[in-house]
Amino acid sequence: MRMRKRHNLLPRMEACAAVLIENGAEHRGRWLQDFPGYDRVWLEIGCGKGRFTVETAKQNPDALFVAIEKVPDAMILAMERAQREGVENVRFLDFDAARLPELFAPGELGRIYLNFSDPWPKSRDAKFRLTAPNFLRRYADALPLGGEIHFKTDNTPLFNWSLEQFEAEGWELDEVKNDLHGAGTVGVMTDYEEKFVAEGLKINRLVAARTEATRTTADGELPRLRNAALADARGRKLPSSEGLRLTESTPALSHAFFRELKQAPELFERPEDFTPFVYDAQRVEAFCAARRADPKRRQFALLLDGEVIGDLGLKRIDREAKTAEAEICLKNDACRNRGYGTAGLRLMLEKGFAELGLEQIEADTLSANTRSQRMLKKLGFRLVREDESRRYYRLTRADFRARQEGIR
Ligand SMILES: C[S@@+](CC[C@H](N)C(=O)[O-])C[C@H]1O[C@@H](n2cnc3c(N)ncnc32)[C@H](O)[C@@H]1O
Repeated sequence: MRMRKRHNLLPRMEACAAVLIENGAEHRGRWLQDFPGYDRVWLEIGCGKGRFTVETAKQNPDALFVAIEKVPDAMILAMERAQREGVENVRFLDFDAARLPELFAPGELGRIYLNFSDPWPKSRDAKFRLTAPNFLRRYADALPLGGEIHFKTDNTPLFNWSLEQFEAEGWELDEVKNDLHGAGTVGVMTDYEEKFVAEGLKINRLVAARTEATRTTADGELPRLRNAALADARGRKLPSSEGLRLTESTPALSHAFFRELKQAPELFERPEDFTPFVYDAQRVEAFCAARRADPKRRQFALLLDGEVIGDLGLKRIDREAKTAEAEICLKNDACRNRGYGTAGLRLMLEKGFAELGLEQIEADTLSANTRSQRMLKKLGFRLVREDESRRYYRLTRADFRARQEGIR
């Protein structure tokens, strides 16, 4: 979800304490005891700005409605909406669905809503789709027999792919519709849905019920997701990140990188102060030598089909505290916004945690740099603080591992 930066996020989250759950794991297996007065627990994954959440909770006052969302900038609007409308049976968690088993005991949920989930169109990202088998099995664990998933999307390639996954994983499908609102509006609309319907897009919907045949996490090996690329709405071919490699930086690789570096003015704290980078071999040599001489630094080059496209580093490495800070710079606009940064950073984090034995890696971005913020969140980083101009993130080894396992 592309979001504008929300101001004063942390104080606004605090002001919504009544509907926010900080530590969901402590309610695992006891949601209905800890929140008495309800007869079932329903979950929405990826609630966004919460139009659907709040309205559905209002219409079902006997259900405890739990909404999880991994982008707090969106969730804050949902929480404020719930408070404003005085809805008492809804709770929000800043939480990634990959960690669902930490939240709910087997059979604890009555229903799960997936509304307009991100399509993750690249084949190698198929495991991130919220209807991929790795996620469906977690849902099956948390639902009883007959427990339902309600799934809506405008994205027909994603819908068709999801249908195949539900069927292969032993779910019973019902109410499969390709034009939900064709004969008039049906049910509660989400924020995205309202926009798409206004644009004339058709909405797909299905209900999938857990049966005896439904696979759970106890069913072992996950199927391999081969050739799972989804065409985008305009049928464009997606860029491939195959051929990406992270290697220890050398002077020659650094020169190759800086020779072609074209920075993006919008990524400067004061874009009006931006002056284009001009390659100067001596200055680059001195800069790289200083980096090499720093014992608290490891420098890497990101290569695509043998050509350097990124300069990445772990700096301020503290071997006792097992911490470091990550930084990344891509060569030019042709390399940006294509998933290369995320893939490269993932490779470097893997090295940091596995080879250097780090426990925690930090990173920060300019507040306006939402692209980098999305990348960090995708990798499991959590926002820890923000100031006038920057946002500061932290990733623990445990969160990184959980994220990688959750998506495997
Ligand atoms: C396209 S938006 C749809 C928002 C809302 N459901 C709607 O229909 O208006 C998808 C939302 O799902 C959230 N999301 C994606 N993957 C998630 C995950 N693994 N765990 C929690 N939230 C997730 C995203 O942050 C985003 O807000």
